[in-house]
This record gives sequence, C-alpha cells and structure tokens, in this order.
Amino acid sequence: MNPIKVGLLGIGTVGSGTFNVLKRNQEEIRRRAGRGIEIAVVADLNTERARELTNGEVEIVSDANEVVSRPDIDIVIELIGGYGIARELVLKAIENGKHVVTANKALLAVHGNEIFEAARKKGVIVAFEAAVAGGIPIIKALREGLTANRIQWIAGIINGTTNFILSEMRDKGLDFDVVLKEAQQLGYAEADPTFDIEGVDAAHKVTLMSAIAFGMPVQFDKAHVEGITKLSAIDIKYAEELGYRIKLLGITRRRDDGVELRVHPTLVPASRLIANVEGAMNAVLVQGDAVGATLYYGKGAGAEPTASAVIADLVDVTRLHTADPNHRVPHLAFQPDELSSVPVLPIEEINSSYYLRMRVADETGVLAEITRILAEGGISIDAMLQKESREGEPQTDIIILTHITREKHVNAAIAKIEALPTVLSAVTRLRMEELN
Ligand code: HSE
Repeated sequence: MNPIKVGLLGIGTVGSGTFNVLKRNQEEIRRRAGRGIEIAVVADLNTERARELTNGEVEIVSDANEVVSRPDIDIVIELIGGYGIARELVLKAIENGKHVVTANKALLAVHGNEIFEAARKKGVIVAFEAAVAGGIPIIKALREGLTANRIQWIAGIINGTTNFILSEMRDKGLDFDVVLKEAQQLGYAEADPTFDIEGVDAAHKVTLMSAIAFGMPVQFDKAHVEGITKLSAIDIKYAEELGYRIKLLGITRRRDDGVELRVHPTLVPASRLIANVEGAMNAVLVQGDAVGATLYYGKGAGAEPTASAVIADLVDVTRLHTADPNHRVPHLAFQPDELSSVPVLPIEEINSSYYLRMRVADETGVLAEITRILAEGGISIDAMLQKESREGEPQTDIIILTHITREKHVNAAIAKIEALPTVLSAVTRLRMEELN
C-alpha cells in the first residue's frame, strides 16, 4: 500500500523532532501502522531553516494554505500554535476532508467544540495527544484505557516550567522572581512565560482532560486559573514543615451538582508520589471508580517526547483512516450526541482543605479569636503551627490547616480574621488536596 501523505505546518522544535523520529523509526512505524507514513510537504515561513531541518529531503513551501488544500495530503499536522491562523488552517483542512493532528492545547481548549463539530460533519479525525502532558499518553489512557470507569477526579502537574520553578524555590529557598530568571537563562521558561506562570497553559490542558473524563464540551472560559507568581518561599517552607509540598495542579472533579475545574498552587502531602515529581517533569493522577488511582509520569515537553505523541496520533489516524467514522473513538471519548451539559462550578463552590498563614500580635486571646471565627464558620482545624516570636518583636506567624470545607465559608472567615486588630497581615490562603 502507498504511504499515507502528511503535510506539516510549522517546523520548530516539535516539528523537527517529529521529522527525525518518523525517519529514524520508519520501518517499525510502518509495521505498526500497516503502511508507511510520509511527510510529503512542510510549510514554514522560514523556508531556509525548514530545508536545513529536513536535510533537503522534503518539499518546503512558505504558505500553509497551500498544504491544507492539496489533494495528495491525507493528514495535516498543525504545530503553529495560538488561536489565530492555526484555527483558520485547521478548519480549512477539515473542510477539505483532511485528518488533523495537533499539539495546540490553546486552540482546542478555546475553540475545540467548533473544531470537533466541523470534524464530525466531515467524518475526519482531530487527534491531540501531544496537546496534554507532551509525551505522556494521557489522552489515550483517559479516552480508551480507562473507558470502563466512571472517572471521579484528575489532578495533574501539567506544566513543566512551573514545576521546575517550584522545585528550585523549594530546594534553594529562593523567591519566585529569582528562579524565573534562572529558568529563562536555562531555556526552561519562554522569554514571555505568561501562559506558563499564570497557569493558563495548565488550564488549557485540564480543560481538555475534564471534557474527556466527564463527557462534556470543552469549557475553558469556566476554569478557575491561578498561577504561581504570588507564591512566596516562606509558604513553601512552612508547608514543608507541616509535611506538604506545593505544586501547581490542574484539578477537575465530578460532583453531584457539577464539575470542579481549576488550576492553582496546591499543598499535597509530601508522601504522595505526585508530590515528588520534580523539575520539568509532568505527572497526572486519575481516580476511576473501578481501577482506583493510576499515575502517569513523563516528559511534558521537548522535541522527541512531544514527537512521540504526535506520531502516535499519526499511526492512530493511519489505522482508522478507512474505518467508518461512526465507529471510531469519539474526539471527546463520549459519543457526540451523548455529551452532558453538567455545569462547571464557580470557584466559591469548590470543596477543599486550606492552608492559612497570618502575621499576628503575640498577645493573649489572639489565637482564641481566630479559632472562634473558624468554628463559627463551620471550619474544622486539621493542624496548626505557631512560631515563637523573636526577642523584642511581639508578633509571629500562625499557620492553620483546615479540613475540607466550601471555599466561600473560608473566604468569609478570612474577611473576619483580617478585620481583627491583632491580625497584622492579609491572610495567605492556599488550597490543599490529600489526593487519597
Ligand atoms: N510550556 C509547557 C510547559 C510545555 O512548560 O510544560 C508545552 O505545553
């Protein structure tokens, strides 16, 4: 059988990784896919660099529109990124009856519903393993491997840049700004790291996982997104003293009244495997009703790890290319007419445990006042830490860990605590998950 023909849009790090792995493992991949997979054309504005990266072995064009319209191309790989031109090209490729493989989490988290619907109408596949956690086959696991389960929750370290920064902050006791500069110098963080450090990249990824896990449309606009820019080294240290690590987690949880969908720094017991995922690595913990907890770990970025996911999708599409569209694995795991309209809950309605840190005057009755406010709010204390005040400075830090409660109750209690004259700072509030 003739090889299936692929058009590659954008040849940067992941694109050249895909080209190289496909070439290196072509014979093995052919044996798995049932036919060869050939990159027939590459579109990139920098045609000279594209020619160098492909050793002059592939046709190079500068106009991606040309690729998505060519009749000889069966699959388009979109590695341009962003919501603008990438959206137009993907929709055009679908309109022209091409299957699409993409690593573009931003595009799918924001425009996924429109794109999947267009693909369904045309009977083509949009595959996106590389969009979440790079080389970890988490989409495949959620959509197929765990398909027997009612998935209860997912918690993932799904941004390597921020995990690297948090690991460095903990190891070296350094503040966020200092470590960010170091991460940029080492090439871990982008020159503009906003999407990573503000939690947006992780929110794109958890949005996609949430849709697949719970059979609902993608709803990035409803996700609660909080990054690590306001996190201080002192909270990492206090958390450690209490037996916790702070990780930027993407969390989604099914409840009777809706779905929680959130990204924020989270205290996790140091004894959990996921708490020990360090540096730029990714890990996703999934709780299913039948299987229990399963943990997926690996590289979430980089040329060949991401190429591994892109090529897995190419092989999948190649195998399914001739299958009846109604009998393929659905894009969002559930059949398109079986998606549910379960609401994403506002952040005030989530259930979580909390870490609260406050600076207080070291006077009689201060602690009693604080615990009274918490008790009146129905908030139960799980653990507490108070440091001895320094000589000549009658004030100290109090750290309280709460049991699980509704976020709005904690917010109301914090407002009352902050109004006490003996509480000298704003209350730092971090969410905490036992993940058991
Ligand atoms: N910027 C992402 C990260 C990788 O730091 O994990 C691509 O999703």
